[in-house]
Amino acid sequence: MKVLLVNGSPHNNGTTFTALKEVEKSLQAEGIQTEMFWIGNKPISGCIGCMACAKLGKCVIDNDTVNQFVLKAKEADGFIFGTPVHYAAMSGLMTSFMDRAFYSASCSGNKEIFAFKPVASVICARRAGTTATYDQINKYFGISQMPIISTRYWNMAFGKNGEEVQKDEEGMQALRMLGKNMAYYLKCIEAGNEKGIKKPEQEVVKFTNFIR
Ligand SMILES: Cc1cc2nc3c(=O)[nH]c(=O)nc-3n(C[C@H](O)[C@H](O)[C@H](O)COP(=O)(O)O)c2cc1C
Repeated sequence: MKVLLVNGSPHNNGTTFTALKEVEKSLQAEGIQTEMFWIGNKPISGCIGCMACAKLGKCVIDNDTVNQFVLKAKEADGFIFGTPVHYAAMSGLMTSFMDRAFYSASCSGNKEIFAFKPVASVICARRAGTTATYDQINKYFGISQMPIISTRYWNMAFGKNGEEVQKDEEGMQALRMLGKNMAYYLKCIEAGNEKGIKKPEQEVVKFTNFIR
């Protein structure tokens, strides 16, 4: 079983990376394979709403890390998405990344890339905006039928950089527990699969827009 950890910071080796590493160590100690994926610090376009993904099976914008991630996501059994807080929200790069990764998977009929796979967020900030960001990022998971894994506090750690965040002892402990909890639920899902428990049958989607 493999968990993909996504570093949504423009810093390859900063606070978010350090926090994700704490979760990763904990997952590995439970026998879970891991891979760290950095979204990069080059421009990532927002979704332009062209719907080309419905025909192409991937996002039409192919010059950044979004399609690379979606390919890897197909093989993953679980996800940890980390982001720094920028103005009490996800980083702009991460917002564009998440919009296009989730929208292109959904609109191209590849919802199984994310559906029923356990997921958790890791939110990093110097001081404030973590709970708003936690609410924001969880929206992608809720609409995608992903079981959201929690820990003993909300999934956040504080620090200005990788060195500082390691001093947030309560945060680090919550992140270690998050890795253990994710491993536990992955093992439960595996046991369920071995018992032959099937995923729920899907109804045909009804679109009832508010204005007709
Ligand atoms: C554009 C920008 C906006 C920021 N906004 C906030 C904020 O709203 N609240 C906060 O606590 N920290 C804010 N920060 C600080 C970062 O969240 C913090 O330094 C974090 O540890 C950086 O993580 P990273 O090293 O993974 O990028 C902001 C930083 C930047 C660059």
